[in-house]
Amino acid sequence: MACKKGCCGGAGRKGSASGKGSAGGKGSAGGKGNYLALEACRVVSFTRESPDNFTLKLSKRLECEPGQFVQVSLPGVGECPISVCSASGEPLELNVRQVGVVTNALAQLKRGDAVFVRGPYGKGYPMALLKGNSLVLVGGGCGVAPLKGVVEYVARHREDFREVYLFLGFRSPSDVLFQRHLAGWKARYRLSVSVDENPANTCFDGKVGFVTKLLEEARFDNSNKVVFMCGPPRMMDACAAVLRGKGFHDDQIFVSAERLMYCGVGKCCHCMIRGKFTCVDGPVFRLDELGGFKE
Ligand SMILES: Cc1cc2nc3c(=O)[nH]c(=O)nc-3n(C[C@H](O)[C@H](O)[C@H](O)COP(=O)(O)OP(=O)(O)OC[C@H]3O[C@@H](n4cnc5c(N)ncnc54)[C@H](O)[C@@H]3O)c2cc1C
Ligand code: FES
Repeated sequence: MACKKGCCGGAGRKGSASGKGSAGGKGSAGGKGNYLALEACRVVSFTRESPDNFTLKLSKRLECEPGQFVQVSLPGVGECPISVCSASGEPLELNVRQVGVVTNALAQLKRGDAVFVRGPYGKGYPMALLKGNSLVLVGGGCGVAPLKGVVEYVARHREDFREVYLFLGFRSPSDVLFQRHLAGWKARYRLSVSVDENPANTCFDGKVGFVTKLLEEARFDNSNKVVFMCGPPRMMDACAAVLRGKGFHDDQIFVSAERLMYCGVGKCCHCMIRGKFTCVDGPVFRLDELGGFKE
């Protein structure tokens, strides 16, 4: 089946087995049979989140860890990596920002349509290792998607963690994602939401300013806390600086990195970051392992 993007994981391709793709946790597709195998699923629901963002719920129930990703494809169009934003074992949810060929084609899908998925791939947030800590989740734009997966995990393992702080930044009120979940998150966790600007002066229950402002105003220190960040590199860089000012060390901060990917399983070398494969060594890295987050 042709892939207009020329990516190697296009529909129908068979994988040559190797353990290289098994970097993820127990949910990783690697190491078991054909880890490039595509699975056809149906769209269960399509939810418009903002003018350029939507969430697909698919028929596939995926065992995975928060922070892992899947490769999603449409025959004859292409394939792209998208983070899992649902809980392990639940129908797979993917939050997608429309930026190009595949994501715009995914935006045309309707309930009942077919879509192909392979994965999950990569290393997610090491939730089991971090038991007993408070979690500080910092997300920007569609970087909030993998953090929703973390929130879903915490909901099922609440006794494993202390406080949960959520700092979410968006461009404007109309870009705020997962609005239907925010009241529930606010009731259970320490949620703060900011928008960069509120041009139409719409009613918005949050701060106007960058998400760094929310972090600056937060009254906490670094004790028994770990930070999970996902968003644009400049945002994560600025947030890391604020956190260091509050006493956090880079080994307390986990970032989700984005690189152009094709195979997703450590074969094509398109996703290298500081000598590591984003697809198998990441996409979640501890900040000290990356030596900072400058692009
Ligand atoms: C591990 C991982 C998880 C991701 N999770 C999500 C997610 O949950 N939701 C989401 O909306 N997006 C996510 N992305 C980004 C998503 O994969 C890209 O937006 C997508 O590949 C764009 O495909 P396209 O065919 O629509 O765009 P294209 O037509 O391929 O490109 C549009 C533009 O985006 C650039 N681009 C494409 N892919 C990337 C990339 N990976 N990094 C930087 N620039 C890129 C292209 O160079 C081009 O300028 C993730 C990426 C990675 C690596
Ligand atoms: S995407 Fe091919 S090696 Fe990572």
